[in-house]
Amino acid sequence: MKPRNLRHPLINSRFPHLHHGGDYNPDQWQDRPDILREDIRLMKLAGCNTFSVGIFAWSALEPEEGRFTFDWLDRTLDDLAAAGSVAVVATPSGARPPWLAQKYPEVLRVDADRTRRLYGTRHNHCMTSPVYREKCTRINTLLAERYKKHPALLMWHISNEFGGSCHCPLCQEAFRDWLRQRYGTLDELNRAWWSSFWSHTYTDWSQIESPSPKGENSLHGLNLDWRRYTTHQTVDFMKQEFAPLKAITPEVPVTTNLMGLYYDLDYWKFAAELDVVCWDSYPNWGGPAGDGMVASHTAFAHDLMRSLKAGRPFLLMESTPSVVNWRDISKLKKPGLHRVSSLQAVAHGSDSVLYFQWRKSRGSSEKFHGAVVDHVGHENTRVFKDVTEVGRMLSRLDEVAGTGVPAEVAIIFDWENRWAIDDSQGPRKPKGYEDACLAHHHAFWKRGIPVDVINMECDFSPYRLVVAPMLYMLRPGVAERLEAFVEAGGTLITTYWSGIANESDLCFLGGFPGPLRKVLGVWAEEIDPLLEGETNNVVPVEGNGLGLVRPYKARELCELIHAEGSKVLATYGQDFYAGRPVLTENRFGRGLAYYVAARLDENFQDDFTGALAQQLELRLPLPGKLPEGVSVQVRSNGTHEFVFVMNFLPEVSRVDLGSDPMEDLVDGGSLSGAITLPGFGSKVLRRLAG
Ligand code: GLA
Ligand code: ZN
Repeated sequence: MKPRNLRHPLINSRFPHLHHGGDYNPDQWQDRPDILREDIRLMKLAGCNTFSVGIFAWSALEPEEGRFTFDWLDRTLDDLAAAGSVAVVATPSGARPPWLAQKYPEVLRVDADRTRRLYGTRHNHCMTSPVYREKCTRINTLLAERYKKHPALLMWHISNEFGGSCHCPLCQEAFRDWLRQRYGTLDELNRAWWSSFWSHTYTDWSQIESPSPKGENSLHGLNLDWRRYTTHQTVDFMKQEFAPLKAITPEVPVTTNLMGLYYDLDYWKFAAELDVVCWDSYPNWGGPAGDGMVASHTAFAHDLMRSLKAGRPFLLMESTPSVVNWRDISKLKKPGLHRVSSLQAVAHGSDSVLYFQWRKSRGSSEKFHGAVVDHVGHENTRVFKDVTEVGRMLSRLDEVAGTGVPAEVAIIFDWENRWAIDDSQGPRKPKGYEDACLAHHHAFWKRGIPVDVINMECDFSPYRLVVAPMLYMLRPGVAERLEAFVEAGGTLITTYWSGIANESDLCFLGGFPGPLRKVLGVWAEEIDPLLEGETNNVVPVEGNGLGLVRPYKARELCELIHAEGSKVLATYGQDFYAGRPVLTENRFGRGLAYYVAARLDENFQDDFTGALAQQLELRLPLPGKLPEGVSVQVRSNGTHEFVFVMNFLPEVSRVDLGSDPMEDLVDGGSLSGAITLPGFGSKVLRRLAG
């Protein structure tokens, strides 16, 4: 196992603090100098120190083509600097002024049905358009030249929440170029896409079109490549945006705000180009899933965002201090929830708590979205007080900035695998890839065992346990690397519907799980999809070695496997495959590989995870079992550990901290033994690293 890097560079070494603040849109308030003055006063009062500016400010920066008006942004940055704050300065490409779209219609996106959008809303430009790229380069160059020495400049924020795809003629050509690069010849492409099926053999590159509901959408290789290309083209657009920034301010980091598990773009490709990962998190607190489950799912997304840059702290770029306005029912945050949910981001590796937004807009579609400063305009609100409390808390946690998370476990959550699983017809709909990953993660989360969320290209050697639920696709070399990981002593868990297809979504011949068959010691012959509500019993084999004794339930997908040298630890209890293996263990080299052949219930996840945690002696953050809804996470700089204890339920909870006293960083004093946490209560404690 490789030692983890737990000391990461700060975004700016001159700012050794956690960042607190958010999106600030003074461009909407230029006719109200009184309000702008009041903003600065309130920012200090709320303990805010970091603001993102200019995200959607193109109209304010270039009201007509070639006439630039930076004076308001000059004043904003000067005011922020004078108040001791730093600024994340955005490039404005997330939305464009009407004049731009009117003069250059090619910047507007074309949908999959081949209709061009009209001007409106945001996040809908073509990623290929040379005109749009040129306009962005121009304004970005001017921004960089103007603010390169500004004391407030912390980092560059490229555009906003990249997403979607464009099917215009320019994008079709760019797609074909990308395919030429990938395959070289049409023969290679036809083979990879299995295009002989339904007589789809392409004989000229110009015959290739992006997938469309009106046209081709049955070639899985094409669908997958279109998604890959869309990621590529969006990253390419982003790189073109930051080229002038990098040239003029090489020392200033660049980022863009990601969206957690956002479906359409492979964030690993973004992460490779970004200096810092940022993301916008809007969990459905108060929603039907219950806040405990919401906390667990949010934890997964935070873990993913941290893992994107090999454990380097990320920034929580947006979150709401109270409500969002885009759910059917957008609930208020109950007292305490804002504090604990903000802390959760930090516990999982964020060096910030930032909001959308600082001051509520007066009009347009986000006028009722939560903000630090409400329409009432003063600080005497519940939300403002909650934010101030978070500011106070973060101000005590300077030491946490730049620290890592000592994860010994990784879960593979891979975008291409996800797309390929969802696109294939059969064996069942939905196949629940995200759910499978979340369910494995949840079992570790409940125990406070930190987990990295990686993709299949990541280095497995820092981990003791790698969990790869539904590893349907295996890109070249992955099976070999997993095999080497187990051989060297690692533990691998994989499940049903693994090792099915290669990187082009062509099935492996010669028996599933394809190239993983040897390391797992199983052959998966068939898979039986169950109806909604239908289950099969799972019976642990006596003396199975993991201490599994109670019966479990299988649902949704049951694979019919043969153990080929692996040990059978549990079997199906019903149907024509009763008695066939459902859980196997294969000793391979110095390690172990487990195969879970069906989607099993939470009791199984708990017992199995608990048994492996014990067997591998994974480090638990606190000695006792954690009460339901309580999460414990650890950040560490190698010398000190910061233990975050968080109650996500409205009820009081008792948590055993163990006998060694730990320092309470927020409220002072030291704590040990059993403590009482109020509903949504939290503690940040410091101890020497173990
Ligand atoms: C996104 C955007 C913001 C804002 C918020 C509202 O995260 O980046 O501009 O629209 O959603 O929740
Ligand atoms: Zn386009």
